[in-house]
Amino acid sequence: MSSSQDLQKIIAGRRAADFVQDGMVVGIGSGSTIAQVITALGERVANENLKIVGVPTSEKTRRNAAKLGIPMYNVDDVDKIDLTIDGADQISDDFSAIKGGGAALLWEKIVAFNSRENIWVVDSSKRVSKLNQYLPVEIIPYGSDQLFKRFTADGFHPTWRLDQNGNPVRTDSANYLIDLHVPVIEDPRDLGQELINMVGVVEHGLFTDVVNRVVIGSDDGVEIIEA
Ligand code: A5P
Repeated sequence: MSSSQDLQKIIAGRRAADFVQDGMVVGIGSGSTIAQVITALGERVANENLKIVGVPTSEKTRRNAAKLGIPMYNVDDVDKIDLTIDGADQISDDFSAIKGGGAALLWEKIVAFNSRENIWVVDSSKRVSKLNQYLPVEIIPYGSDQLFKRFTADGFHPTWRLDQNGNPVRTDSANYLIDLHVPVIEDPRDLGQELINMVGVVEHGLFTDVVNRVVIGSDDGVEIIEA
């Protein structure tokens, strides 16, 4: 990652954290941009006596936020989430996104769809006119070889998500991940529907009709777009 991209993540993450208000239940996303949000929220908790409750989208986020003094609850332990701030791998012009590069898409989607409001925070490299990068899909381990073959037959050019030892990555829900390689996703809603109807698919990384605001870091500063 270039230092310019690092800086974009820092300024965007800090700006996004400003949308959190005292008393909120906050869904906290996953990834390196969200690490900046967590740091900024931790500072606000320590310096401004900000009182919030966090709901994590991954075990890593739960640990990192708790270390900074943010009380963390499970999604089923809260009534409703006021605001979720999360990252994205790509965001298209129609405010669809690919998520799951960090293997957290299932919890991210559950938290997002249980939030009154959603903010995505990204660096400028994540903006595209149409989604065109690998698409993570979380699947049940049982029967996963059969599902992989079906993805291949259907022209999705699947690859297993593997760890450094060559073993399948396990998500926080102990599932596997397959990445699909489709050149351009023309209709994310349509593709999402097709994937969710396949037996063995738990969830896919296409997020549509969920975001309210996008915070983008660039070399010129932070841009905020209402979706
Ligand atoms: C996690 O599964 C993803 O959806 C992340 O939100 C995404 O990968 C963004 O990560 P970075 O902020 O590290 O680019």
